[in-house]
Amino acid sequence: MDLKYIGHSAFEIKTKDKSILVDPYVSINPKYDWHKSNITDIFVTHAHGDHLGDAIEISKEKQAEITAVVELASYCEKQGCKTKGINFGGWINYDWGRVVFLPAFHTSSLPDGSYGGEPASILFDIEGVRIFHAGDTCLTSEMKTIKELYNPNIALLPIGGYYTMDVEHAAVAAKWLGAQTVIPMHYNTFPNIKADIEKFTRLVQSGNANVAILNPEQI
Ligand code: NI
Ligand code: MN
Repeated sequence: MDLKYIGHSAFEIKTKDKSILVDPYVSINPKYDWHKSNITDIFVTHAHGDHLGDAIEISKEKQAEITAVVELASYCEKQGCKTKGINFGGWINYDWGRVVFLPAFHTSSLPDGSYGGEPASILFDIEGVRIFHAGDTCLTSEMKTIKELYNPNIALLPIGGYYTMDVEHAAVAAKWLGAQTVIPMHYNTFPNIKADIEKFTRLVQSGNANVAILNPEQI
């Protein structure tokens, strides 16, 4: 299993022979060429444009299935995509692993302004590694429950503030989630989500987790 940071909240998870995209706002990274990957599944945490991103185009071209909460999945299906409409709390099985959608405290509207379903965070259980993608969220005590129930190994956390947690709250989230490795996301993409990455690293490391800062330029 290999985890690549495309930028913003977009990640590619590579298994033995497949690629999974999460929040594929991939057009912000000209160095990432999705045409080269064997993408079979796309996960979208919520309907905002910086997360739905290029999901529709990639899904159609690759015949990749979009998994999202039912309202968002139904929107994608109307655009001609193959979809799996799910909801919170149940394991969803795939031939490469399993996934559970969990709460995020945020909003979610579609490009046309209609209701996009509730926003989610997503826990991936792939090849023995549990990766928690927090989506967009504020700090919430749900994260303590997520540790108790799922024990994530790697946490992908928004740190940019303004729309989500900032570095201080994200460091608390890291502690509550108990992950060994924390990867910051959703920062520095826009002027209002500039983050002090050194401060974040310092705060998380004082709680005994490792911070891995992935550089989208090196994808
Ligand atoms: Ni959002
Ligand atoms: Mn966002």
